[in-house]
Amino acid sequence: SSHLTILGIETSCDETAAAVVAREVDGRGTILGEVVLSQLDEHSAYGGVVPEIAARAHVEALDTLIGQALARAGKTLDDVDAIAATSGPGLIGGLIVGLMTGKAIARAKGKPLYAVNHLEGHALTARLTDGLPFPYLMLLVSGGHTQLVLVRGVGDYERWGTTIDDALGEAFDKTAKLLGLPYPGGPAVEKAAETGNPDRFSFPRPLVGEKRLDFSFSGLKTAVRQAAQSIEPVTDQDIADICASFQKAVARTLKDRIGRGLERFRQEFPTAADPALVVAGGVAANKVLRSTLQELCDRNRFRFVAPPLSLCTDNAAMIAWAGLERMAVGLSPDDLTVAPRSRW
Ligand code: KG4
Ligand code: ZN
Repeated sequence: SSHLTILGIETSCDETAAAVVAREVDGRGTILGEVVLSQLDEHSAYGGVVPEIAARAHVEALDTLIGQALARAGKTLDDVDAIAATSGPGLIGGLIVGLMTGKAIARAKGKPLYAVNHLEGHALTARLTDGLPFPYLMLLVSGGHTQLVLVRGVGDYERWGTTIDDALGEAFDKTAKLLGLPYPGGPAVEKAAETGNPDRFSFPRPLVGEKRLDFSFSGLKTAVRQAAQSIEPVTDQDIADICASFQKAVARTLKDRIGRGLERFRQEFPTAADPALVVAGGVAANKVLRSTLQELCDRNRFRFVAPPLSLCTDNAAMIAWAGLERMAVGLSPDDLTVAPRSRW
């Protein structure tokens, strides 16, 4: 046929997801059917993801979700050309569930299996949604990752910066927890910040001005704790002011760090026709950070690409797409002995 279709499976954290995605010969991608089941309710009482609960929830839901994704696409397992499953990095219990399921289907149906790196899924999403040409920069900001990655081609990535302590989403979550706001903290902090004064507190902006492109957020969290402890009793307005000041410090930090990244990209690819910065990860939902990055890109004549939120956060369409991209450039599938990798 003129195009390839693939079933994708994602189980690396607290979202169980399955998707059927097609790739036309001209490189365009289409999501034919997609389902994501968030385990948020199961974990929120614990203030974070509990690996044991996550693994069990993946086992219970995955078969049904695969059936639903196929049904939405109007396909059966016999119709797809290949299977793609996340094999790392992530929580090992969940990875085992998803990868084993993918292997079982591949074996039973005689289809090739692609064991996909979760971060590669995030990195290539902008080509599914926006047909973005290589090379481009990707900023992944989630609960587990804060990375600036040069995406040069399929399977060709260079990490330019990463956090030396907390991930940005983690900093939002910990700040929320310190202030007694609900989990997940990001949306709660953003909401509280709307009525706050961003200039009341002057929080640190770690690594700002440094040449290397890394991030650091744990000092910010400590400063938030000290600010909250210095006020007695803490009112809703105080909380709003702390959240707004926190977000401002984060925005300033990103502006500095990413600004340097854009400069470096210009130096390395002076002739790139369509330089772009792509965001991914749950923190990309934050409107203040989005507008900060948009402005930064406008000023530096970079295209700012923010895929729809459902594709910025964990999903299986990105895993399916990464498999399709590998097929399209002729990379061979993985052996069925491939092992999940918690760290990768
Ligand atoms: O990519 P994601 O959904 O999943 C994992 O990291 O597993 O990211 C979740 C993270 C959480 O830390 C959450 O607090 C953060 O993204 N987040 C936000 C916002 N919405 C979610 N952070 C800041 N502002 C938001 N609006
Ligand atoms: Zn992710």
